[in-house]
Amino acid sequence: MDNYLIPVIPFHDQILARGEGSYVYDTEGKKYLDLNSGQFCTILGHSNEELVGCVTEAAKTLVHTSSGMISKSTLEAAEKLNRVSGQMDARSITLSTGAEAVEFAIRYAKHIMKKEGLICFSKGYHGLTLGTQSITFGGVYTAPHVNDIFPVSIAEEDTLKECIEEFRSTVAAHKDEIAAAVMEPIVSVGGMIFPDGEYFREVSSICRENDILLILDESQTGFGRTGKWFCFQQFDIVPDMVVCSKGIGMGFPVSAVLFSGELCREREFTMTHYSSHQNDPFAASIISFGIDSIEKDGLLDSNREKGAYFLSKLEELCSTNAMYRKPRGNGMMLGTDLFIEGVTDYRPYYQKLYDKAAEKGLLIQGTDGGRVLRFLPDYLLTKDDIDFCVKVLGEITL
Ligand SMILES: Cc1ncc(COP(=O)(O)O)c(C=O)c1O
Repeated sequence: MDNYLIPVIPFHDQILARGEGSYVYDTEGKKYLDLNSGQFCTILGHSNEELVGCVTEAAKTLVHTSSGMISKSTLEAAEKLNRVSGQMDARSITLSTGAEAVEFAIRYAKHIMKKEGLICFSKGYHGLTLGTQSITFGGVYTAPHVNDIFPVSIAEEDTLKECIEEFRSTVAAHKDEIAAAVMEPIVSVGGMIFPDGEYFREVSSICRENDILLILDESQTGFGRTGKWFCFQQFDIVPDMVVCSKGIGMGFPVSAVLFSGELCREREFTMTHYSSHQNDPFAASIISFGIDSIEKDGLLDSNREKGAYFLSKLEELCSTNAMYRKPRGNGMMLGTDLFIEGVTDYRPYYQKLYDKAAEKGLLIQGTDGGRVLRFLPDYLLTKDDIDFCVKVLGEITL
């Protein structure tokens, strides 16, 4: 491994050979429950036979066109995205990765609003290109530094009112500089924080009053994960732009940006955009397949139902095992804190937990320096799989 790969992060010891449904197998043949659908992407499981059929068909028909050429499947997928966006009445473009999609959204927000500034969560994550990095963790790791970034605190249960006021006063001080607020509806990398819908309703109206666009980055929360097509539909707001990645590609590099119908009708934008893989028929076929499958198999309802079951099991775990605290979730996006008396650096403990869980056939993911566990499984995960996960976590001692 060391001789061939750029060591951008510490790689796990297991080398994977194949996947099937919610499970992956390493080169030794050991089976693991992949509790986080890869990097939260394979929402219909690994090597889904019907998806393989769809991709094969798309590969045989037409995978790619020139940037200005629209295919039949691109139009079909855009029509479906428009339908599932509901009140947003969205127009869309498909791209490849989450960062590319966020970059597209902020590029157009700055162009449309003729302002440069962005408000973001201080612990939000939007990707690691220069533009997206400038709003990831409030831009603290960006080099070169990008100006006009205004980080605000994330509204937690007990800080809702203060956080709304912080947002309001940041806008009041800088509204002539700020083009858009870019936010995750559920802050994942930053620690699995679930701001209340009231926060986003207030943010949405403050943005409207001050001519600021609201961009929701639904890379993780979108495409059915929380039991609605998009998490904003739980908040009863209509954002100006929505970014969708990860799940929408079901393991393939597919993302999309949605602009509201209102934005497209009422604002002028003349800037062109070129990316080799924008609106590819290949991506479109995958998106259409995903929407059809989620509808055919009732996965929005089952995500709500299974998510509630998973949360109840995490609550049970937390009430009987002092190592886990604060179970939380929204549909199939859940988290819990690790707690060890006197510990401030959770990294070594999380690493031990990861190794012991893997030994027992479970792949987990931590975030926020290992202090928080997050669970974003595929939508086909069974209740038995959930029981297995909670049992394994309950058996481990650190
Ligand atoms: C909310 C959010 N936005 C954007 C991204 C970046 O996506 P990608 O890694 O595909 O560029 C991520 C990745 O984790 C994400 O969680």
